[in-house]
Amino acid sequence: PPEVITDPAKLRQRISAARPAGKRVALVPTMGALHAGHVSLVEAARRDCGVVITSIFVNPTQFAPGEDYERYPRNLEGDCALLGPAGCSIVFAPSVETMYPAGSETSIDVGSVARPLEGESRPTHFAGVATVVMKLFQLAPADAAYFGRKDYQQTLVVERMVRDLNVPIELAVCPIVREPDGLAMSSRNAYLSPEERCRALAIHASLRLAEQLVGRGERDAQQIREAALALLAESDITPEYVAIVREGTLEPLEVVEGPAVIAIAARVGKTRLIDNLILQ
Ligand code: PAJ
Repeated sequence: PPEVITDPAKLRQRISAARPAGKRVALVPTMGALHAGHVSLVEAARRDCGVVITSIFVNPTQFAPGEDYERYPRNLEGDCALLGPAGCSIVFAPSVETMYPAGSETSIDVGSVARPLEGESRPTHFAGVATVVMKLFQLAPADAAYFGRKDYQQTLVVERMVRDLNVPIELAVCPIVREPDGLAMSSRNAYLSPEERCRALAIHASLRLAEQLVGRGERDAQQIREAALALLAESDITPEYVAIVREGTLEPLEVVEGPAVIAIAARVGKTRLIDNLILQ
Protein backbone atom coordinates (compact mmCIF):
# COMPACT_ATOMS: atom_id res chain seq x y z
CA PRO A 1 0.00 0.00 0.00
CA PRO A 2 1.14 3.58 -0.55
CA GLU A 3 2.63 5.66 2.26
CA VAL A 4 0.03 8.15 3.54
CA ILE A 5 1.57 11.55 4.27
CA THR A 6 -0.30 14.44 5.88
CA ASP A 7 2.70 16.70 6.64
CA PRO A 8 3.88 18.86 3.71
CA ALA A 9 7.48 18.94 5.03
CA LYS A 10 7.64 15.16 4.90
CA LEU A 11 6.17 15.15 1.40
CA ARG A 12 8.87 17.56 0.27
CA GLN A 13 11.55 15.26 1.73
CA ARG A 14 10.19 12.31 -0.25
CA ILE A 15 10.21 14.37 -3.46
CA SER A 16 13.74 15.66 -2.81
CA ALA A 17 14.92 12.09 -2.30
CA ALA A 18 13.44 10.94 -5.63
CA ARG A 19 15.21 13.60 -7.68
CA PRO A 20 18.87 12.52 -7.18
CA ALA A 21 17.77 8.99 -8.08
CA GLY A 22 16.81 10.49 -11.46
CA LYS A 23 13.15 9.72 -11.01
CA ARG A 24 10.44 11.83 -12.58
CA VAL A 25 7.74 12.75 -10.08
CA ALA A 26 4.04 12.78 -10.98
CA LEU A 27 1.14 14.32 -9.09
CA VAL A 28 -2.45 13.13 -9.51
CA PRO A 29 -4.79 15.57 -7.68
CA THR A 30 -8.07 13.99 -6.49
CA MET A 31 -10.80 14.38 -3.91
CA GLY A 32 -10.79 10.65 -3.11
CA ALA A 33 -13.70 8.18 -3.31
CA LEU A 34 -11.58 6.80 -6.09
CA HIS A 35 -12.83 4.76 -9.04
CA ALA A 36 -11.40 3.40 -12.28
CA GLY A 37 -11.26 6.92 -13.79
CA HIS A 38 -8.85 8.07 -11.09
CA VAL A 39 -6.93 4.80 -11.34
CA SER A 40 -6.41 5.39 -15.07
CA LEU A 41 -4.69 8.71 -14.27
CA VAL A 42 -2.40 6.98 -11.77
CA GLU A 43 -1.55 4.26 -14.29
CA ALA A 44 -0.77 6.85 -16.97
CA ALA A 45 1.40 8.73 -14.47
CA ARG A 46 3.23 5.55 -13.53
CA ARG A 47 4.02 4.82 -17.19
CA ASP A 48 5.78 8.18 -17.49
CA CYS A 49 7.23 8.70 -14.01
CA GLY A 50 9.18 6.79 -11.36
CA VAL A 51 7.27 8.22 -8.40
CA VAL A 52 3.51 8.84 -8.38
CA ILE A 53 1.94 10.98 -5.66
CA THR A 54 -1.86 11.00 -5.42
CA SER A 55 -3.34 13.83 -3.41
CA ILE A 56 -6.65 13.19 -1.69
CA PHE A 57 -8.29 16.34 -0.40
CA VAL A 58 -11.96 17.27 -0.48
CA ASN A 59 -11.42 20.94 -1.16
CA PRO A 60 -13.98 23.08 0.68
CA THR A 61 -13.35 26.20 -1.40
CA GLN A 62 -14.61 24.66 -4.64
CA PHE A 63 -17.99 23.82 -3.11
CA ALA A 64 -20.60 26.55 -2.75
CA PRO A 65 -22.83 26.71 0.34
CA GLY A 66 -25.61 24.14 -0.09
CA GLU A 67 -23.51 21.88 -2.35
CA ASP A 68 -22.37 18.44 -1.23
CA TYR A 69 -19.10 19.26 0.60
CA GLU A 70 -20.20 17.69 3.90
CA ARG A 71 -21.63 14.54 2.38
CA TYR A 72 -19.01 14.09 -0.35
CA PRO A 73 -17.91 10.41 -0.05
CA ARG A 74 -14.69 9.85 1.93
CA ASN A 75 -12.92 6.48 1.99
CA LEU A 76 -9.14 6.75 2.54
CA GLU A 77 -8.67 3.04 3.23
CA GLY A 78 -10.52 1.91 0.11
CA ASP A 79 -8.66 4.55 -1.91
CA CYS A 80 -5.26 3.26 -0.76
CA ALA A 81 -6.25 -0.30 -1.69
CA LEU A 82 -6.86 0.87 -5.28
CA LEU A 83 -3.80 3.10 -5.46
CA GLY A 84 -1.08 0.61 -4.51
CA PRO A 85 -1.67 -1.82 -7.38
CA ALA A 86 -2.04 1.11 -9.82
CA GLY A 87 1.52 2.22 -9.07
CA CYS A 88 1.06 5.05 -6.59
CA SER A 89 3.62 4.99 -3.79
CA ILE A 90 2.65 8.16 -1.90
CA VAL A 91 -0.77 9.49 -0.87
CA PHE A 92 -0.80 13.12 0.24
CA ALA A 93 -3.89 13.58 2.41
CA PRO A 94 -3.59 16.96 4.13
CA SER A 95 -6.12 18.31 6.63
CA VAL A 96 -8.26 21.35 5.88
CA GLU A 97 -6.21 23.28 8.49
CA THR A 98 -2.98 22.39 6.66
CA MET A 99 -4.34 23.53 3.31
CA TYR A 100 -6.18 26.60 4.58
CA PRO A 101 -4.59 27.93 7.77
CA ALA A 102 -6.73 30.58 9.43
CA GLY A 103 -6.30 33.86 7.59
CA SER A 104 -5.80 32.48 4.05
CA GLU A 105 -7.17 35.07 1.62
CA THR A 106 -5.44 34.65 -1.75
CA SER A 107 -7.35 33.03 -4.57
CA ILE A 108 -6.71 32.58 -8.28
CA ASP A 109 -9.03 33.86 -11.00
CA VAL A 110 -7.93 32.44 -14.35
CA GLY A 111 -10.29 34.68 -16.31
CA SER A 112 -12.48 33.95 -19.31
CA VAL A 113 -12.08 30.19 -19.53
CA ALA A 114 -13.63 29.83 -16.06
CA ARG A 115 -16.74 31.88 -16.87
CA PRO A 116 -19.06 29.89 -19.17
CA LEU A 117 -20.62 26.42 -18.61
CA GLU A 118 -19.62 25.25 -15.11
CA GLY A 119 -18.63 28.81 -14.26
CA GLU A 120 -22.19 30.00 -14.87
CA SER A 121 -23.76 27.23 -12.83
CA ARG A 122 -21.09 27.37 -10.11
CA PRO A 123 -19.66 30.92 -10.07
CA THR A 124 -17.12 30.35 -7.27
CA HIS A 125 -16.11 26.83 -8.26
CA PHE A 126 -13.09 27.41 -10.49
CA ALA A 127 -11.43 29.95 -8.19
CA GLY A 128 -11.53 27.19 -5.57
CA VAL A 129 -10.15 24.63 -8.02
CA ALA A 130 -7.38 26.87 -9.39
CA THR A 131 -6.32 27.93 -5.90
CA VAL A 132 -6.15 24.43 -4.46
CA VAL A 133 -4.41 23.03 -7.54
CA MET A 134 -1.80 25.81 -7.34
CA LYS A 135 -1.30 25.06 -3.64
CA LEU A 136 -0.91 21.34 -4.40
CA PHE A 137 1.64 22.18 -7.11
CA GLN A 138 3.59 24.18 -4.51
CA LEU A 139 3.36 21.54 -1.80
CA ALA A 140 4.12 18.65 -4.17
CA PRO A 141 6.49 20.16 -6.74
CA ALA A 142 6.18 17.42 -9.34
CA ASP A 143 7.48 17.23 -12.90
CA ALA A 144 4.05 16.41 -14.30
CA ALA A 145 0.42 16.47 -13.19
CA TYR A 146 -2.40 14.27 -14.53
CA PHE A 147 -6.00 15.34 -15.05
CA GLY A 148 -9.05 13.68 -16.58
CA ARG A 149 -10.98 14.89 -19.59
CA LYS A 150 -14.18 14.12 -17.66
CA ASP A 151 -13.78 17.60 -16.16
CA TYR A 152 -13.01 19.17 -19.50
CA GLN A 153 -13.33 22.82 -18.49
CA GLN A 154 -11.20 22.14 -15.40
CA THR A 155 -8.35 20.97 -17.64
CA LEU A 156 -8.55 24.28 -19.54
CA VAL A 157 -8.59 26.24 -16.27
CA VAL A 158 -5.48 24.46 -15.02
CA GLU A 159 -3.72 24.81 -18.38
CA ARG A 160 -4.44 28.53 -18.42
CA MET A 161 -3.21 28.99 -14.86
CA VAL A 162 0.02 27.10 -15.55
CA ARG A 163 0.66 29.19 -18.65
CA ASP A 164 -0.28 32.57 -17.18
CA LEU A 165 1.57 32.04 -13.88
CA ASN A 166 4.66 30.31 -15.33
CA VAL A 167 4.20 27.19 -13.24
CA PRO A 168 7.02 24.76 -14.03
CA ILE A 169 4.96 21.60 -14.45
CA GLU A 170 3.92 19.49 -17.42
CA LEU A 171 0.21 18.71 -17.74
CA ALA A 172 -1.27 15.51 -19.09
CA VAL A 173 -4.96 15.07 -19.88
CA CYS A 174 -6.33 11.51 -19.91
CA PRO A 175 -9.49 10.15 -21.60
CA ILE A 176 -12.84 9.71 -19.85
CA VAL A 177 -13.32 6.28 -18.27
CA ARG A 178 -16.90 5.03 -18.50
CA GLU A 179 -18.98 2.23 -17.02
CA PRO A 180 -19.69 -0.57 -19.54
CA ASP A 181 -23.08 1.04 -20.29
CA GLY A 182 -21.52 4.43 -21.04
CA LEU A 183 -22.09 6.39 -17.81
CA ALA A 184 -18.97 8.45 -17.11
CA MET A 185 -17.41 7.30 -13.85
CA SER A 186 -17.78 9.81 -11.04
CA SER A 187 -17.53 9.72 -7.27
CA ARG A 188 -21.01 11.32 -7.30
CA ASN A 189 -22.54 8.31 -9.09
CA ALA A 190 -22.69 6.77 -5.60
CA TYR A 191 -25.54 9.21 -4.81
CA LEU A 192 -27.79 7.80 -7.58
CA SER A 193 -30.72 5.50 -6.79
CA PRO A 194 -31.11 2.54 -9.18
CA GLU A 195 -33.87 4.43 -11.00
CA GLU A 196 -31.72 7.58 -11.30
CA ARG A 197 -28.70 5.52 -12.36
CA CYS A 198 -30.83 4.23 -15.24
CA ARG A 199 -32.10 7.68 -16.27
CA ALA A 200 -28.55 9.08 -16.09
CA LEU A 201 -27.63 6.94 -19.11
CA ALA A 202 -29.49 9.48 -21.27
CA ILE A 203 -26.60 11.92 -20.75
CA HIS A 204 -24.07 9.76 -22.53
CA ALA A 205 -26.72 8.64 -25.05
CA SER A 206 -27.43 12.25 -26.02
CA LEU A 207 -23.70 12.96 -26.44
CA ARG A 208 -23.47 9.93 -28.72
CA LEU A 209 -26.52 11.07 -30.67
CA ALA A 210 -24.83 14.43 -31.24
CA GLU A 211 -21.70 12.65 -32.41
CA GLN A 212 -23.75 10.54 -34.85
CA LEU A 213 -25.52 13.60 -36.24
CA VAL A 214 -22.19 15.31 -36.86
CA GLY A 215 -20.91 12.09 -38.43
CA ARG A 216 -23.85 12.19 -40.84
CA GLY A 217 -22.97 15.74 -41.85
CA GLU A 218 -25.20 17.84 -39.57
CA ARG A 219 -23.38 21.11 -38.87
CA ASP A 220 -26.11 23.23 -37.27
CA ALA A 221 -25.32 23.32 -33.55
CA GLN A 222 -28.88 24.32 -32.65
CA GLN A 223 -30.30 21.25 -34.43
CA ILE A 224 -27.81 19.03 -32.65
CA ARG A 225 -28.59 20.60 -29.26
CA GLU A 226 -32.32 20.15 -29.80
CA ALA A 227 -31.88 16.48 -30.66
CA ALA A 228 -29.81 16.01 -27.49
CA LEU A 229 -32.37 17.90 -25.38
CA ALA A 230 -35.20 15.78 -26.78
CA LEU A 231 -33.41 12.57 -25.85
CA LEU A 232 -32.71 13.89 -22.33
CA ALA A 233 -36.38 14.87 -21.98
CA GLU A 234 -37.41 11.26 -22.67
CA SER A 235 -35.60 10.37 -19.44
CA ASP A 236 -37.11 13.35 -17.61
CA ILE A 237 -33.81 15.22 -17.56
CA THR A 238 -33.79 18.99 -17.90
CA PRO A 239 -30.10 19.85 -18.19
CA GLU A 240 -28.42 22.97 -16.81
CA TYR A 241 -26.71 23.25 -20.17
CA VAL A 242 -26.08 21.40 -23.40
CA ALA A 243 -23.27 23.37 -25.01
CA ILE A 244 -21.43 22.94 -28.27
CA VAL A 245 -18.19 24.86 -28.04
CA ARG A 246 -14.87 25.24 -29.74
CA GLU A 247 -12.23 22.93 -28.30
CA GLY A 248 -9.71 24.84 -26.20
CA THR A 249 -11.55 28.18 -26.01
CA LEU A 250 -15.13 27.19 -25.07
CA GLU A 251 -16.43 29.72 -27.58
CA PRO A 252 -20.06 28.76 -28.36
CA LEU A 253 -20.48 27.44 -31.91
CA GLU A 254 -23.47 27.95 -34.17
CA VAL A 255 -21.85 25.90 -36.90
CA VAL A 256 -19.82 22.83 -36.01
CA GLU A 257 -16.57 23.47 -37.83
CA GLY A 258 -13.14 22.39 -36.67
CA PRO A 259 -12.44 20.81 -33.30
CA ALA A 260 -15.58 21.00 -31.16
CA VAL A 261 -16.83 19.60 -27.87
CA ILE A 262 -20.35 18.95 -26.64
CA ALA A 263 -20.69 19.33 -22.88
CA ILE A 264 -23.67 18.57 -20.66
CA ALA A 265 -24.44 19.31 -17.02
CA ALA A 266 -27.64 17.88 -15.60
CA ARG A 267 -29.23 17.09 -12.31
CA VAL A 268 -30.59 13.57 -12.00
CA GLY A 269 -32.66 13.72 -8.85
CA LYS A 270 -30.45 15.79 -6.55
CA THR A 271 -27.20 14.60 -8.09
CA ARG A 272 -25.40 16.95 -10.46
CA LEU A 273 -23.56 15.12 -13.26
CA ILE A 274 -21.33 16.39 -16.07
CA ASP A 275 -20.08 14.69 -19.21
CA ASN A 276 -18.66 15.67 -22.59
CA LEU A 277 -17.54 14.29 -25.92
CA ILE A 278 -15.20 15.50 -28.64
CA LEU A 279 -17.32 16.05 -31.76
CA GLN A 280 -14.59 16.17 -34.37
P1 PAJ B 1 -11.99 14.56 -8.60
O1 PAJ B 1 -13.39 14.81 -9.00
O2 PAJ B 1 -11.69 13.58 -7.50
O3 PAJ B 1 -11.20 14.11 -9.88
C1 PAJ B 1 -9.81 13.93 -9.82
C2 PAJ B 1 -9.30 13.74 -11.25
O4 PAJ B 1 -9.88 12.55 -11.79
C3 PAJ B 1 -9.72 14.89 -12.17
O5 PAJ B 1 -8.64 15.24 -13.03
C4 PAJ B 1 -10.88 14.28 -12.94
O6 PAJ B 1 -11.07 14.85 -14.22
C5 PAJ B 1 -10.43 12.84 -13.05
N1 PAJ B 1 -11.58 11.97 -13.33
C6 PAJ B 1 -12.74 11.88 -12.62
N2 PAJ B 1 -13.59 11.01 -13.21
C7 PAJ B 1 -12.95 10.55 -14.32
C8 PAJ B 1 -13.31 9.64 -15.36
N3 PAJ B 1 -14.49 9.03 -15.40
N4 PAJ B 1 -12.40 9.41 -16.35
C9 PAJ B 1 -11.20 10.05 -16.34
N5 PAJ B 1 -10.81 10.92 -15.38
C10 PAJ B 1 -11.67 11.17 -14.39
O7 PAJ B 1 -11.40 17.06 -10.12
C11 PAJ B 1 -11.23 17.07 -8.92
O8 PAJ B 1 -11.30 15.94 -8.13
C12 PAJ B 1 -10.89 18.33 -8.15
O9 PAJ B 1 -11.49 19.43 -8.78
C13 PAJ B 1 -9.35 18.57 -8.01
C14 PAJ B 1 -8.68 18.75 -9.37
C15 PAJ B 1 -8.70 17.40 -7.24
C16 PAJ B 1 -9.12 19.87 -7.19
O10 PAJ B 1 -9.73 19.80 -5.95
